[in-house]
Amino acid sequence: MRRVASGGNVPGVTRLPFIRPVSVVGALAAGALALTVLPAVAVDPGTTGADTLFPTSGNSGYDVKRYDVDLDYTPASNQLAAVTTVTAVATKALSSFHLDLEGLDVSDVEVGGQTAEFSRDGSELIIAPAAAIAKGATFRTVVTYGGTPSVHTDPDGSDEGWVPTSSGDGAVALGEPVGTAAWIPSDNTPSDKAKLAVTITVPNGTQAISNGRLVSRTKVGDTRTRYAWRSDAPISTYLAMVAIGRFSITRDTYRSVDGRRIRILNAVDTANGGSSAAIDKLPAVLKAEEGWFGPYPFADAGGVVDDAAVGYALETQTRPFYPTDGPSLGTVVHETAHQWFGDSVSLTDWHDIWLNEGFATYAEWLWSGSHGGLTPAQHFTRLYATPASSGLWSPAPRTFTDAADLFGSPVYNRGALTLQALREKIGTRDFFTVLRTWARMHRHGNVRNAQFVKLAEKVSGRRLDRFFHVWLEVPRKPQGY
Ligand code: ARG
Ligand code: ZN
Repeated sequence: MRRVASGGNVPGVTRLPFIRPVSVVGALAAGALALTVLPAVAVDPGTTGADTLFPTSGNSGYDVKRYDVDLDYTPASNQLAAVTTVTAVATKALSSFHLDLEGLDVSDVEVGGQTAEFSRDGSELIIAPAAAIAKGATFRTVVTYGGTPSVHTDPDGSDEGWVPTSSGDGAVALGEPVGTAAWIPSDNTPSDKAKLAVTITVPNGTQAISNGRLVSRTKVGDTRTRYAWRSDAPISTYLAMVAIGRFSITRDTYRSVDGRRIRILNAVDTANGGSSAAIDKLPAVLKAEEGWFGPYPFADAGGVVDDAAVGYALETQTRPFYPTDGPSLGTVVHETAHQWFGDSVSLTDWHDIWLNEGFATYAEWLWSGSHGGLTPAQHFTRLYATPASSGLWSPAPRTFTDAADLFGSPVYNRGALTLQALREKIGTRDFFTVLRTWARMHRHGNVRNAQFVKLAEKVSGRRLDRFFHVWLEVPRKPQGY
């Protein structure tokens, strides 16, 4: 195992005279506040993050490069035993740092191969390594934990986190906006993307699906099987997914517009007949969306249908999750569009979620318009006729303050209306140039709303700040934009 002590310092940055022991170990037992009493100025405690909607999700002081998540799950007892290795680079000298973890019992934490002290404070796992970590150093944290994982209830009342299936054959792990902390100790914010490898060991006869590609399936003793999955493209934690149960698995390939061979793997719960007509249309959906948005951003695609009645589908990276009865074609179109907008081009702050949901909703309008249904312009006319008093217009897509409004009608529908209004303002050609450039420029990156406004202004050669302000920030029906 790699030692924290060695190098990795950023060129040009003064090498700090670490490793030095940190004397917070005793203080830790008294709780997180004790960490503010630190001996050295050059070493800081990492803190929890500062997302405007979820201030305790995400952390500071480091940048995660990779998660190796090793799970062992027994559906009958809903028991998880896990070891996660977090490989990160310190963005400042650290005496301690936080990971987000909700529930479960932590039995051991090691940093750089040495036992570390840790404490829990709500969903913060606060870790004090035996030796401070130098700025720029790559360090590995191994967390051993387990127990009964939590179902996390969102501000809007929906379930996420680790959700056992209705039939009792397994569970599904879903993470938007914050549920991933129920199973991965993580920097649980969309802005810290990292590679992800998940292995899941389950009783024989049960299967385990996750993001990316299936690397191996191996026997563990006589009674268990281990599934190893890997995501090579970076992923925001909320897009990580595990589905455990009994599935009918089908594979296909799709030739992308830029000539790559995309592997398709679908897993449909056998309790749902083991197939989904809408998911079978994925190649046609990919083709249409590549035509609008440019090359599909990942090497893997697919879908998973599981009998967890959460009431929503989720754009889990490369392999969206669909609840119990399987999706409509419109939902497949929506979750697939998120692979460009949300998954590849990702948020920095949850307040910009219209950049995910407005775009995915607009993709549904594009699809219906090219398949005999309402065109985007017709959707616009219909929705714009909604009275000014309607919940569609308030709160505005970017200025809501209650996290319960994250998945509300303004974010989805007024968000999509914003795109159609933009199209009418700058013209169809420039509009699609904006969408494609956005997807290409920020592929596998993180964005903020202001960057989208700037790009639209650049492509169209017009000032659009007032237009976007009226559409996204004023809690009234937009007029005279
Ligand atoms: N992003 C998902 C979609 O648009 C919806 C997630 C809803 N989650 C929730 N907690 N309400 O398909
Ligand atoms: Zn969506």
